[in-house]
Parts: sequence; structure tokens; C-alpha cells
Amino acid sequence: MERKRTGILISGRGSNMAALIAAAAEPSFPAEIALVISNDPEANGLKMAAQNGIPTRTIARKDHASREEHDAAIDEALQECGAELVCLAGYMRRLTAGFVEKWSGRMINIHPALLPAFRGLDTHRAALAAGVRIHGCTVHFVTAEVDAGPIVAQAAVPVLAEDDEARLAARVLKAEHRLYPLALSLVASGRVSLRDGKVAHHGRNAGDTGDMLISPAPPSTESDTVDLEYLARFTP
Ligand code: GAR
Repeated sequence: MERKRTGILISGRGSNMAALIAAAAEPSFPAEIALVISNDPEANGLKMAAQNGIPTRTIARKDHASREEHDAAIDEALQECGAELVCLAGYMRRLTAGFVEKWSGRMINIHPALLPAFRGLDTHRAALAAGVRIHGCTVHFVTAEVDAGPIVAQAAVPVLAEDDEARLAARVLKAEHRLYPLALSLVASGRVSLRDGKVAHHGRNAGDTGDMLISPAPPSTESDTVDLEYLARFTP
């Protein structure tokens, strides 16, 4: 199996990057991480990548005259390392339309919310303010509109009564670290692709997601559960 060479763009902590590197360390994973690029030389993720033997580059905005030139330098670095796919992992700069177009169908992003809800920043604060009982994260193909591209995969987590922003963020981040490698493997293996602006699925889902996530969790005692046999009479 030919593994898809993948570049990762980061701006900071790099925990999603680390999850992708860890998954790709497995030889059967359909992508290999060829390069990590940060716009910030101080990004913690750069050190982590280097410690794992992954080549790194810093390509800072201030070293380029325009956003277009900045993105052109990133594109050049990706071409040089033979990247076929790009993962945005906490890359906090808006990419230019030309760059997005060039990598269309080959660039994915992780966003800490169940899109299309809570686009933009401070998603956990927004979710708490809205009072949703289920929150999560989304991996999507990157399109010109920010946080709006076709969805590759999502993971849901419950919002608990005692949650504050930090607790909720930690629960979602844990889900992100499971979801992003899964989503990259779907795209790298060709099981998911972008066709005419929509996500196309090829083949069946391998696993079992369970039927539903209910939050707050319903009580599990016998007397509180509904009579499923009775209900089945009304279900086609
Ligand atoms: C992650 O939670 C990611 O979903 C988010 O930034 C964090 C980066 O953390 N991305 C966005 O908000 C993009 N819209 P990490 O550097 O530890 O992976």
C-alpha cells in the first residue's frame, strides 16, 4: 500500500499534530507525515515533531510581503516534500483563496465543535452559553468559507452539568485526538473524497458507532426504561 505523504500546518500546542504523528507511526496507516510547518517559531508542536523525527519548517507571515506570498512559501515547502495531503491542526491563520483552491479535496481541518454549529473561535464558551447537551468536534475539507467545508467525520461528547469551559474543552480535545487520525485515514485511503463540493463515501463503515448518544444520560434502572417491545408495535 502506498502511503499518502501528508504535511501538517500548526500554530501552537500541536496536540492534534501529535495524535496524527502517533497514528502514522503504524506502518499500516495510509498516510505518513512528511513535514510539519508552523507560522510561529515558538510553537510547542515544532519541538514535539522534531523529537519524533519529523522534518519541520517555520514559515512566518512577517517574512513575507503579503498573505499570498506567505501561502506561496507554504505551498512550495509542501511541494518540495512531496505532500499529497494537508492537515490543518490548530493552524490559526486564514488561508488565501488561491491556496485553498489549489489543495481542494486534499486539505482537511479539525474544528472543536459539531459544525455547522459554533463556527469561529471560543466554541466551548459558545456551546455552554447556548446550553447544548451534546457538543464535539468535526473534521472537514477546507473550502474558501472558514469552518464551512464538507464534513468528513464528527465525534460527539456530552456536556455535563458541572462543566466549565476548561473541562468541556478537555473532553472535546480527547475526542479530537481520536477523530483526526480516523478522518485522515478515511481521506488517505480514498474511502472518503470530495466530489462536486460534497463528501462521497466509498465502501461501508468498518465499525459500529452505536445507535445514539443521549445527554443527559437516561437512567439505567429497569423501571425507568421504556417498554421497547410495546414501542416496536408502532415502528415501521
Ligand atoms: C484544537 O482544539 C483545534 O480543534 C482548534 O485549535 C486547537 C489546537 O490544539 N482549531 C481551531 O479552532 C480551528 N478553527 P492543538 O494545537 O493542541 O492541536
